[in-house]
Amino acid sequence: MYPTAAGPIGIFDSGYGGLTVLSAIKRVMPQYDYLYLGDNARAPYGGRSFETVYQFTREAVEWFFARGCHLVILACNTASAKALRTIQQRDLPLIDPQRRVLGVIRPTTERIADLTSTGHIGVLGTEGTIQSHSYQMEICKLHPQFTVTGEACPMWVPLVENREHDKPGADYFVRQHLERLMARDPLIDTLILGCTHYPLLLEKIQQYLPTGMKFVTQGNYVADSLSDYLVRHPEMDAKCTKAGSVNYYTTDTSDKFSQLASLFLQEDVDAKQIKLG
Ligand code: DGL
Repeated sequence: MYPTAAGPIGIFDSGYGGLTVLSAIKRVMPQYDYLYLGDNARAPYGGRSFETVYQFTREAVEWFFARGCHLVILACNTASAKALRTIQQRDLPLIDPQRRVLGVIRPTTERIADLTSTGHIGVLGTEGTIQSHSYQMEICKLHPQFTVTGEACPMWVPLVENREHDKPGADYFVRQHLERLMARDPLIDTLILGCTHYPLLLEKIQQYLPTGMKFVTQGNYVADSLSDYLVRHPEMDAKCTKAGSVNYYTTDTSDKFSQLASLFLQEDVDAKQIKLG
């Protein structure tokens, strides 16, 4: 029922955050075609229920499939935490068993062992991501001896989406969560920025943590993992077109998206508005 010809790779986020992932993916694999979709009209996803995040994400995945994508990356931790498994295990076998949907949590956790000396890992994320315990579970599968402490930072996405992330007011919210996290586990030496918006706050985050702290931003890990996936799956690679194009879509007004996306990507973006659901 969906187009069978080769198509672009779909990149999905609730809003702008996935652009930090897209930007790294484009750097590593500029030859592919990409469709980016931000569900800005319904963002943020961070405080929403499992059912809602799942339903919104599934609608987005079906939209990508209808646009010819065979491979979709959920460049959103909240969607990866709350919707990915159900979509992979329950929906895909029914919708189209040949198509794939991948998330950002697994590729991130696969690399932390190279970074930590103490085995104590901090995870910063939205309420949804932290409450799901997805990072703890994924890390525990690979490294049961590690201690993982999560801290939900509900104000951080709105700070970024409202372009307040580099203003002095942001310091209060950044410091508050970092102090709380480090008080709960002072041995943390590696910090996962488990939300694709947070790389924009990295400079401020670094100011409030001891030197020597290792920071895990996801873009490069996800990009390397995707590149590796396509080498290991030539049948999927053959279904991904390669003309180096990127097309941007949003569920909210395209003017606002284009403006803010240009800030994230440092290049001109011309987005189109679509409707989901
Ligand atoms: N960027 C999304 C993430 O990585 C969260 C944004 C939101 O709350 O919608 O979790």
